[in-house]
Amino acid sequence: MAATKSRGRSHVKCKVCRGPAAVEVRRHNAAFCPEHFISHFRSQVARAIHEFKMFEPADRLLVAVSGGKDSLALWDVLMDLGYDTAGFYLGLGIGGYSDRSRDACISFADGRGAKLIVRSLSEEHGYSVPTLARLSGRVPCSGCGLNKRYEFNRAALEEGYEVLVTGHNLDDEVATLFGNVLHWNTDMLGRQAPVLEERVIGSETALVRKVKPLVRVAERETAAYAVLRGIDYIVEECPLVEGNTQHRYKEAITLIEESSPGTKQQMYFGFLKRAAHRFAEESEAVELVACSSCGSPTIVAEDGNPRCSFCKMKARTERARAGRRREQEAGGSNRGAQGAERGGKE
Ligand code: FES
Ligand code: ZN
Ligand code: ZN
Repeated sequence: MAATKSRGRSHVKCKVCRGPAAVEVRRHNAAFCPEHFISHFRSQVARAIHEFKMFEPADRLLVAVSGGKDSLALWDVLMDLGYDTAGFYLGLGIGGYSDRSRDACISFADGRGAKLIVRSLSEEHGYSVPTLARLSGRVPCSGCGLNKRYEFNRAALEEGYEVLVTGHNLDDEVATLFGNVLHWNTDMLGRQAPVLEERVIGSETALVRKVKPLVRVAERETAAYAVLRGIDYIVEECPLVEGNTQHRYKEAITLIEESSPGTKQQMYFGFLKRAAHRFAEESEAVELVACSSCGSPTIVAEDGNPRCSFCKMKARTERARAGRRREQEAGGSNRGAQGAERGGKE
């Protein structure tokens, strides 16, 4: 992140003012002093917003915040650019990590007099991400991602926000793209875009427009921005990250980027320019209908009873929970019966 230094003095100069540089952006072959890095970062975000026609000044934006550097840096830039924003924090129930993430969001919002909506999976649905993982036998990230997507959209719809904004940066998008290509997940490739348009079923909005204004900045740049702006974000990683494949893809591509700066940007923007539309046509052709239990868009079901992945996951969780309860009760009454038998023999 820091510019090259020798004997305590930086020899790298800011591209704008020629003063000592604090941050080098190798893929742009540029370095910046703190002040000019902050304006460079903001202009990259503003450029993504305009280039991809993400939203207009009149739109109400709901920013999904996790307490980490990306989402808080993004919220900071959007407020600075004068957009009408509120933050949304979803508690995932991952012990002290979730508590500290929530506190970071609250103190950020309080410090700026900004509105923050706080909800939690346990209050909304009676489970946490670790409970979901235990009951489903799947890696925590799968339940985590599904619940976040669902709850972010629901909050935006219920609270009246037109656009949902997330802090996915260039590294996140490249890692997702890499994973989708490795597995030729064409459906996901069709939906990997900086803007996902609103989806309407009948005359109702079922999915709000989703946008990613940080696609032009790398992860280390959001960290630099957050530090230079004095944002008190949570540095620790989610303790359940082990087994997260995207994390491994990120590390692999970062290795390539180190020897060939610009690889990430070429891969992602090359995909958007040359290939994304082919996959998008395929996924746009899929007919969507309303989930029979919650109304979210889902695919047509052969049995005539369409259920979205969230509702299916919730039903599976409830079945698993009921099964465990029955096992425990059976175990308890068996132990009771054995105890009575032993008691009788004595
Ligand atoms: Fe996947 Fe936390 S649940 S990183
Ligand atoms: Zn400068
Ligand atoms: Zn549903």
